[in-house]
Amino acid sequence: MLAATGPNVAPGERRLAMTRYESRDGRLRLFRGDSHRLHPITSGSVGVILTSPPYWVRGRGRPSAERYAHDLAVGFGREWKRVLAPDGDLWLVIGDRHDGAEWVGMDALVIGWLRRTGWRLQSRGFWAQTRSRERWDNRVNYLLRFRKVGQVVRPRGTTLCWMLPLPRSHPDSIWDAIPEPVVQTVLEGSKKRGPVLDPFAGSGTVGRVAASLGREWVGVERDPRMALVTARRLQLRRVGASLPDRRRAAR
Ligand SMILES: C[S@@+](CC[C@H](N)C(=O)[O-])C[C@H]1O[C@@H](n2cnc3c(N)ncnc32)[C@H](O)[C@@H]1O
Repeated sequence: MLAATGPNVAPGERRLAMTRYESRDGRLRLFRGDSHRLHPITSGSVGVILTSPPYWVRGRGRPSAERYAHDLAVGFGREWKRVLAPDGDLWLVIGDRHDGAEWVGMDALVIGWLRRTGWRLQSRGFWAQTRSRERWDNRVNYLLRFRKVGQVVRPRGTTLCWMLPLPRSHPDSIWDAIPEPVVQTVLEGSKKRGPVLDPFAGSGTVGRVAASLGREWVGVERDPRMALVTARRLQLRRVGASLPDRRRAAR
């Protein structure tokens, strides 16, 4: 096991160290850290990425929304591409918002940036929130499935569409969770080999559903409080920390 601190750990490495939690059988793993870097995860090993990224809340207007979509596709997407198997699925749950002047069309911005960075949209669905708290309309959450260029999904007859009340979040979470029926449908219809990765794990909803389906799961969460919530919910114990591989970090 690698230690995160000590005389041989450079300051830059300490910043990238990720606290690690694990289930007894090692099939469920959580790293507390920033998922811009996924160094504890082997290239090409992940079967499915399923996640709901942090919402776009900062700023208003098109330039700020464009920056958000760009950061997602470029800042995080590079590591998603590295860890995902060649025929693996990337599923994103992207909420859209009215910015006071108009609906932003965030799904189209994210699709555009992922397309420019080597992904192709394979399925498009949504879950709409009934009894929404928002002023403008019922809140819509797009469900977007991507594959790497050249990896086309054979079309299926499934309609990806749900009208659901917002699931009750974990009391310690400030974030909304993806409804479990949505997570279940996505995982049942995706590649079965290789772990499910949630790089924005929040309170661990994807991990809970993955575990109930007998899948391996890896989560990454930056907020220590949320990482503890997930560790408790999934009965994970803290086992140490992971550091980046020096040879790779040096390149
Ligand atoms: C929309 S919430 C995810 C909710 C989750 N689906 C659930 O069921 O609770 C987004 C999460 O991403 C985390 N996050 C934000 N930036 C991050 C980063 N750079 N690396 C890892 N996690 C991050 C936030 O702390 C938050 O918990």
